[in-house]
Amino acid sequence: MQDLREKYIDLIANAGDEAALEELRVAAVGKKGEISLKMRELGKMSPEERQVAGPALNALKDEINAALAAKKAALADVALEERLKTEWLDVTLPGRPMRRGTIHPVSQVMDEITAIFADLGFSVAEGPQIDSDWYNFDALNIPSHHPARAEMDTFYMARAEGDDRPPHVLRTHTSPVQIRHMEKHGAPCRIIAPGRVYRADYDQTHTPMFHQVEGLAIDREISMANLKWLLEEFFAAFFEVDGIRTRFRASHFPFTEPSAEVDIQCSWVDGQLKIGEGDDWLEVLGSGMVHPKVLQAAGVDPDQWQGFAFGMGIDRIAMLKYGIPDLRAFFDSDLRWLRHYGFAALDVPTTAAGLSR
Ligand code: DAH
Repeated sequence: MQDLREKYIDLIANAGDEAALEELRVAAVGKKGEISLKMRELGKMSPEERQVAGPALNALKDEINAALAAKKAALADVALEERLKTEWLDVTLPGRPMRRGTIHPVSQVMDEITAIFADLGFSVAEGPQIDSDWYNFDALNIPSHHPARAEMDTFYMARAEGDDRPPHVLRTHTSPVQIRHMEKHGAPCRIIAPGRVYRADYDQTHTPMFHQVEGLAIDREISMANLKWLLEEFFAAFFEVDGIRTRFRASHFPFTEPSAEVDIQCSWVDGQLKIGEGDDWLEVLGSGMVHPKVLQAAGVDPDQWQGFAFGMGIDRIAMLKYGIPDLRAFFDSDLRWLRHYGFAALDVPTTAAGLSR
């Protein structure tokens, strides 16, 4: 036993790597290892012999196992030392700027809009981009043969042969979120619904996918006056100017009565557009008092509740705010454009800390 002990302790101490160590483990305490074979001989011994040899063999086995484990840890330490020597990094070297992704102006502006309206007590609602034509049209008081349907250049989803249900559509506006929200949560409510919308249109100022934000406020005594105040607060905050005038022009939308198109105050000096000053006007959104039929379609009693809604193009106000000349570039995924107009990922806009700073 003493010979075995000296032999293996010595061999383990001199093992050069983990593979050699594993061979030693098998030779000593593996199933057919020398120490294991010795343990099998215990059966042939007299009880007196066994009483002495048993504990001694067990102690030897424990000692060998402990030596194997200690050597294994030591070998791992050496290997780590070796790696650290080759994989070092001189942190005193000057830093190199790392290429980072940027936040797209549309995402930035959506975050800004959300921050402003959140301060004004609005929460964010969402709806599907593929919607039924009931949500996109009928519920918004646009029946089947209404001319507004044709004007919207709708993308229709394909139907299976023989399926004569009305096809789903890519939503042409964010207004269907009004219906979905009221259906689920009832009145009163105050929400905005930013998101993607789709129309079959493509030229310098139109892309087949673009972004809108819908606003909806329903309560018992809400009026157009509240809408005007809200929009003026919003535009002053969004364009980061002290104050701004709005102009309401009578208009027509099937889902509002009365309806108004809203312009914001601006000036053109030497081809430079300035928002929030001057005597010119820029059209920015459609709005009105929610039509009783729309409330009804969403399960809200129009004898009890009323309110306003508005819909605004996000891409356009992003272009206005950040001086971006071409809408189509928004969706080209051109890295140079994204780096130029993009925003730092951690500059989360808040009304307290500044929206675009
Ligand atoms: N849905 C309209 C569109 O896409 C925009 C709109 C106008 C939304 C008036 C409204 C509204 O909520 O009241 O052209």
